[in-house]
Amino acid sequence: MEYKKLGNTKESLSAIGIGTWQLNGNAEENEKAMNLAIEKGVNLIDTAEIYGTENTVGKIIKGKKLFIATKVWPTHFRYDSVLRACERSLGNLGIKQIDLYQLHWPNQGISIKETMKAMEKLVYDGKIRYIGVSNFNEKELKDAQEAMSKYEIVSNQVEYNLIERMPEMNLIDYMKKEKITLLAYSPFAHGAIFKKKYVRVIESVKELGKKYNKTAGQMLLRWLIQKDIVIPLTKASNPKHMLENIAAADFNINQKDMEIIDSLTPKDSNAGLSKFKGLIEYYLILRAFLRL
Ligand SMILES: NC(=O)c1ccc[n+]([C@@H]2O[C@H](COP(=O)([O-])OP(=O)(O)OC[C@H]3O[C@@H](n4cnc5c(N)ncnc54)[C@H](OP(=O)(O)O)[C@@H]3O)[C@@H](O)[C@H]2O)c1
Repeated sequence: MEYKKLGNTKESLSAIGIGTWQLNGNAEENEKAMNLAIEKGVNLIDTAEIYGTENTVGKIIKGKKLFIATKVWPTHFRYDSVLRACERSLGNLGIKQIDLYQLHWPNQGISIKETMKAMEKLVYDGKIRYIGVSNFNEKELKDAQEAMSKYEIVSNQVEYNLIERMPEMNLIDYMKKEKITLLAYSPFAHGAIFKKKYVRVIESVKELGKKYNKTAGQMLLRWLIQKDIVIPLTKASNPKHMLENIAAADFNINQKDMEIIDSLTPKDSNAGLSKFKGLIEYYLILRAFLRL
């Protein structure tokens, strides 16, 4: 397993992390898939209060030395709410300290200063180790950093894959400069990349993969890993998929082939999906949350 540094810290994270959104279906299979990945050296597990999977993650990580990331939902961005949400997540996960606590989406309705003050208190009190954000653009990231007085933002979790390349416009360069890790969610565009619409792209990736004896999925993940500050988060409830995916952390695509993959979609590609999908996800999790 290849490991990468988290932001500007000395923390070593597996080059692939496990995502846990929509862990539905067969719980046993989900658990098996995650345990297989952990056995193979994956140490980064990502969840969120809104996913409803913190309890499951808590069971799986018990007694294991891993790096646990979770997220606070934007309706909890008031100072006291952040502190309470963190206590709840600690309880759900059954741990004393969260390794990475992330703001799930920006919330323009609450001052970022108030929210970051609470995040800094959580680090100071030893409840969390590092502060991260998710779905933040360059300006939001800068504002969040400026709102803090003691600590640095170590990561920003955004959607990034071969058909959603908006982070390549400005964000990734800024994050490289500031030494902020990009946790790439939906590396397969939530599975859409394997659908008919992208058959030309996938066939080309598959063809290149033959040279490395790797599948299209492994090539897509490896392409992300080799983007320097990027760590993809893969979600696979099928243990076979999970094993296939984490093997992407153990080979290298040469520079020429990286450029060929780069050329398969335009740099500003968002397949018309980016904002739309973001909104759908926002809506789905909000709906789930309101049912709680
Ligand atoms: N911060 C945010 O706002 C945000 C938003 C979305 C997601 N995320 C995080 O990112 C994680 C990953 O996102 P995602 O679920 O959209 O991931 P994804 O990896 O883009 O897509 C997952 C889908 O791809 C399938 N798949 C996985 N490996 C495959 C393979 N090797 N070959 C063919 N199909 C494969 C899975 O099937 P099986 O399940 O059947 O294996 C599943 O249907 C989430 O779990 C979550 O932790 C964060």
